[in-house]
Amino acid sequence: MTTDNSRNIALQCTDIVKTYNSGETEVKALQGISLDVYENELLMLVGPSGCGKTTFVSVITALLGFDSGRCIVLGHDFSAMSDAEKTAFRGKEIGFVFQAFNLIPALTAAENTALPLTIFGTNKTTAFSRSYKMLKAVDLESKEHVLPGNLSGGQQQKVAIARALVHTPRLVICDEPTSSLDHKSGQMVMELLKKLTKEHGVTMIVVTHDERVYKYADRIAQMEDGRIIKVEKNR
Ligand SMILES: Nc1ncnc2c1ncn2[C@@H]1O[C@H](COP(=O)(O)OP(=O)(O)O)[C@@H](O)[C@H]1O
Ligand SMILES: [Mg+2]
Repeated sequence: MTTDNSRNIALQCTDIVKTYNSGETEVKALQGISLDVYENELLMLVGPSGCGKTTFVSVITALLGFDSGRCIVLGHDFSAMSDAEKTAFRGKEIGFVFQAFNLIPALTAAENTALPLTIFGTNKTTAFSRSYKMLKAVDLESKEHVLPGNLSGGQQQKVAIARALVHTPRLVICDEPTSSLDHKSGQMVMELLKKLTKEHGVTMIVVTHDERVYKYADRIAQMEDGRIIKVEKNR
C-alpha cells in the first residue's frame, strides 16, 4: 500500500470484515479491508458494481456496523462510541453527496444548502449566510432562490456539494457523484470536488466507476470482491 509518513491520517481502517445475513444467504461484502486515508486528499474508491464500495463508505461513516476489525475516523474509534455519539459525529464531521442529488424539491437552492445547519438548530441568519457562501463557492450564487426542478443535473449536484460542505465537515463522502450526469457535467463536478478538497482542507472520498474522472484523484484504491486489491498514487 502507498503510505506517506509526512502526512496526517484522517481515517484508518484495519482488517474490516462485514457480512450481510439476509435469511438463508450470506454476503461477504467486506473481507478484511485495511486502508489509511490522509487529511486533505481526494481518494477515489473504484471497482465493479457489488464489490462493496457503498458498504465500505457506510462503515467509515458509522452508518453501518461491522463484524470485526478497527475503524478510527478523525480520531474517533467507532468501537468506543454509542449510537448517539455516532449520530452527533456524522452531523458535525461528515458531508455526503449521492448519485441521486437528494435535494428537497420544495426548498430553494439556498434552503437545501442550509439544511445541515438548520436541522441542528443553527440560527437562520448564520445558516443562510453560510449557505450563500457555499453556493458562491460552487458558482451558483445567482440560483439562490431557484427550486431544484428548475436546475440542470449538474447544477443540482453542485447544490448538493454546497450542502455537503456547509457545516464545515472534515470528511466528505461522495458515492457515485457523476453517475447521473452527462460527461461535461461530470467533469465539472469532479473539478469542483477537487478544488474544494484543497481550498476547504477536507478529506474527500469519491466512490466511482467512471474511468473518465480518475484523473481528479490524488490516490485510487481499487476494490474487488470485498477487498482492496491495489492503492496507487495518481500520475
Ligand atoms: N443491505 C444489504 N443486505 C444484503 N446484502 C447487501 C446489502 N447491501 C449490499 N449488499 C450486498 O453486498 C455486496 C456489496 O454491495 P455494495 O456495497 O452496495 O457494492 P457497490 O457499492 O460496490 O456496488 C453486494 O453483493 C450487495 O448485493
Ligand atoms: Mg454502491
